[in-house]
Amino acid sequence: MKDDTSHLSWDEWDELQSPRQDTNDFDAVVDKAMSRRGFLGSVLAFGSGAAVMGTGLLSSTSAQAQSASRIGFNPIPIATDATIHVPEGYSWHPVAKWGQPLFSDAPDLNHQTGGSLASSDRVFGENTDGMELFAIGNRQVIVVNHEYANPKLNLPQNVDGMVLSGDDALKLQNLQGVTVMEVAEGENGWDIVIDSDLNRRITQNTPMTVAGPAAGHDLLKTDDDPTGRTVLGTMNNCGAGKTPWGTYLTCEENFNGYFGSTDAAFKLPEDYARYGISLEGRYNYEKFDARFDVSKTPNEPHRFGYIVEIDPANPLAAPIKRTALGRFKHENAAATLAPNGQVVVYLGDDERGEFLYKYVSNGIYTPGGDTSTLLDDGQLYVAKFNDDMSGEWIALTEDATDMSAAEIAIFTRQAGSRVGATTMDRPEWVAVNPVSVECYCALTNNKNRGLKPNAGGDETPVTGPNPREANNYGQIVRWQPADDDHAATGFTWDLYVMAGNPIVHDDAYAGSSNVNEGNLFNSPDGMMFDSTGLLWIQTDGDDSNEGDFEGMGNNQMLAGDPVTGEIARFLTGPVGSEVTGLTWSSDRRTMFVGIQHPSAPFPDGEGKLARSSIIAVKRDDNAPVG
Ligand code: FEO
Ligand code: CA
Ligand code: CA
Repeated sequence: MKDDTSHLSWDEWDELQSPRQDTNDFDAVVDKAMSRRGFLGSVLAFGSGAAVMGTGLLSSTSAQAQSASRIGFNPIPIATDATIHVPEGYSWHPVAKWGQPLFSDAPDLNHQTGGSLASSDRVFGENTDGMELFAIGNRQVIVVNHEYANPKLNLPQNVDGMVLSGDDALKLQNLQGVTVMEVAEGENGWDIVIDSDLNRRITQNTPMTVAGPAAGHDLLKTDDDPTGRTVLGTMNNCGAGKTPWGTYLTCEENFNGYFGSTDAAFKLPEDYARYGISLEGRYNYEKFDARFDVSKTPNEPHRFGYIVEIDPANPLAAPIKRTALGRFKHENAAATLAPNGQVVVYLGDDERGEFLYKYVSNGIYTPGGDTSTLLDDGQLYVAKFNDDMSGEWIALTEDATDMSAAEIAIFTRQAGSRVGATTMDRPEWVAVNPVSVECYCALTNNKNRGLKPNAGGDETPVTGPNPREANNYGQIVRWQPADDDHAATGFTWDLYVMAGNPIVHDDAYAGSSNVNEGNLFNSPDGMMFDSTGLLWIQTDGDDSNEGDFEGMGNNQMLAGDPVTGEIARFLTGPVGSEVTGLTWSSDRRTMFVGIQHPSAPFPDGEGKLARSSIIAVKRDDNAPVG
């Protein structure tokens, strides 16, 4: 690392490269938001015609809520400690921790060294994130992302975790990417099946194929790959998705931060700015690996920022970068089917003022049929939200954008700007309701809302599904596709919840009527529906428990009822951590939850390194948990 920026989130690090310009006039914030009260009233009054924002709506109708509640647990209070809490009648245990061996030739984590280079691609990687479980035969296989590295933990013998050699860089590269691992439940709970022939690590150096409109384009060609069709590695793998045909989709998010320049005078290509690619890399990779030095390999950044498809049943199959799904800071990939069998994938671009997308295949999915081009041959759309609660998906065609198909796939953000897409408050995960034709997207927060345009110069007005200036709490927008058809271009939308703090505020920043002192949270991020149609919400926010965030405690996971609006806290994570990644065993009796970047020495205790981990949560009576 250059200066010590290791404590910064990727969002904060990006902000450092592109500092905010303006101060926030708080009076204007409140006036503007409150003038929208009537509008929001029709959107947000769940279960009551009472006041829209502020406190107490759910408690005032608690008898009604109780009788109708689908929440099957007693909600838990906030926590500020270094462990995990779940409701009475539930328990948890770690399944996989950073540095835990996947193969018997790798030792368990050495807490003095952070593990050896030799074993770094033979162990469970760092910073667990999106995951999915696959039933392959009678085996249970979890595929899971490792979003980024924590150099201070991974290179504990280096001052401030500074990358000092090519070996250091390679070790970090190996600890990121994706793990495919078989898991099994034994007498002591779930554990990794060591040496399973399905176990596999995919790293920042694993060869993968490029498919779709950008494959072979000049902008993807490098000295090492003159074809522009074979890339080494996937990076900053954040959220995930699962196709109807049983493959895993991993999503490349903050890829920009891995690139830097050893030549301070290098003139950055014009297109870099929109994606935040700068002369400053976050990990010093560029000093030891020319691939990450943009002054030597200027096209390498064009080869990242995609959705990558991985077949967990075939450890020898090269992952495939599906460029038809666009290049941006992909959060997750929520795949579903239209009534006629077209494949629809919803995709968020997690950056302040960037867009929400969906991809619709031209072909039809049929079980057992050829799926090899369903994610290559199709149309990408970007969302436009109107204030009258309608919206449309605008097709990113060559005519509409005046760009070629390959350019749309590589410079997708610019294509979205050209068609007037709605600038959003950082779209994180999209979740598709399995029991009703609707989708939810977590808009995690956006301190620039109403204050600063996005990196393409698009304004970010306080309007539509982004109704609060300097939005530090976040909200969840949902939409219903026209004609109950995910492939339709029209939709209607509303806000499921605006997070906020009624302890501190009595205006729009108190949150919507389904937020109360018993379920406070900020910055919704990970989101998944269970099979019963309950929405599970994970947070990645400010866990200071002070000021605007008083009473919110550590990051957490809550369950939301889409029908009543009720939201209840289910799990609290250890201090410093983000709760991210959620999947279930095939019998639904186990919920696997990801705990990323705890700051305290979770879960091994004092004197040990903090380890991002997947935990298993079960009911004590072994009944299903979703
Ligand atoms: Fe990696 Fe947007 O979270
Ligand atoms: Ca996330
Ligand atoms: Ca986040």
